[in-house]
Amino acid sequence: MAIDNQLQPHVTVPVALGDRSYDIVIGPGLLASVGKLIASVRSTRRAAIITDQNVARHHLPTVRKALASAGIETVEIVLPPGEQTKSFGFFGSLLEELLDAKIERSDLIVALGGGVIGDLAGFAASVLRRGVDFVQIPTTLLAQVDSSVGGKTAIDTKHGKNLVGTFYQPRLVVIDTRVLETLPERELKAGYAEVVKYGLINDPDFFAWLEANGDKVLSGDPAARAHAIAVSCQAKADIVAQDEREGGVRALLNLGHTFAHALEVVAGFQGDLLHGEAVAIGMTLAFRFSAESGLCTAEEADRVLRHLQATGLKWDVKDAMASKPAAKTLAEAMLQDKKSVGGRPTFILVRGIGQAYIDPNVSLERIESFLQDQLD
Ligand code: NAD
Ligand code: GLY
Repeated sequence: MAIDNQLQPHVTVPVALGDRSYDIVIGPGLLASVGKLIASVRSTRRAAIITDQNVARHHLPTVRKALASAGIETVEIVLPPGEQTKSFGFFGSLLEELLDAKIERSDLIVALGGGVIGDLAGFAASVLRRGVDFVQIPTTLLAQVDSSVGGKTAIDTKHGKNLVGTFYQPRLVVIDTRVLETLPERELKAGYAEVVKYGLINDPDFFAWLEANGDKVLSGDPAARAHAIAVSCQAKADIVAQDEREGGVRALLNLGHTFAHALEVVAGFQGDLLHGEAVAIGMTLAFRFSAESGLCTAEEADRVLRHLQATGLKWDVKDAMASKPAAKTLAEAMLQDKKSVGGRPTFILVRGIGQAYIDPNVSLERIESFLQDQLD
């Protein structure tokens, strides 16, 4: 992490990917400097800002002004908020709007929003005229610590989440920590689950720091918030630099996600269960399953769920949605997971806090019977 004093106080986390390398710039109030930051990595005359209605209301004027002051003309596309926007329908109409606006390869796409906008706009950027450069300006905690970094883009299909997409790296990620001040509390907490994930994967000291300081991160303490975001981005950048296309170690970032995606499919992406909420439940299940398999102690699994509980996040699969899902339905939903090989999902299990590993040999029957016990 480098400290750079040229603009507002901020830190820069590099993502080292050869000729696709880029910086994640993190600091308070950076939206107002986004034009200058973009101009420092890429000269452009025009940019299409893709955002959603909620984000537009709070933050579009600042971004528009910042780009104008750097001499960048803007086209604005404001979409409805919510997971339903990450669909074939909106993807198609977004591409047509970008073409109507004559966005060319020499122009830039700016994704201003949470993971939904980042994933959709990144996917559109990757295929429009066979690839237009894009910049991520993530506005949710989840997007700041996870989805804006690493180049995964996607839309959902009736078969499951993120099943159609590309790996396409942004040219720059600009994280203004102050935009979280307008984020609803439930969304903030859901994003916090992904912060906890980094401690659980390979950084027990960070998990211990979160146990002591997580309340400050959530209540808006600027230093605690900036620290948690920077450590999370550094952790993700390190993993992505080793394994950009998830041939190996990147799968660790899916701790809790095989369970989570199944819960989301069954909940139906209708807002009953946010992605981060599903991840919190999924991580609890991964620890409990690991403890039951004798891989880690029951005390460690309890420590994880106590921290999630303390933040007010859902952790119990029984509370995931209004009507309890069937274990068999969840197990079947796991078969559509992108990490499945030969019809067998890959699980991320743990030998302890900070000791996650990839296990491709877990039988789905064992998972179903474990889920049955958890749901009883
Ligand atoms: P989201 O984009 O739906 O945003 C959540 C809500 O917050 C929306 O209603 C949005 O309008 C609102 N919002 C966003 N920023 C705001 C702000 N600053 N102030 C006020 N309101 C604001 O949800 P999300 O949790 O950011 O992202 C979830 C998506 O991310 C899922 O589709 C998931 O699959 C994807 N994801 C992708 C990756 C990846 O690596 N690409 C990783 C994790 C998650
Ligand atoms: N969120 C998982 C990944 O980026 O690989």
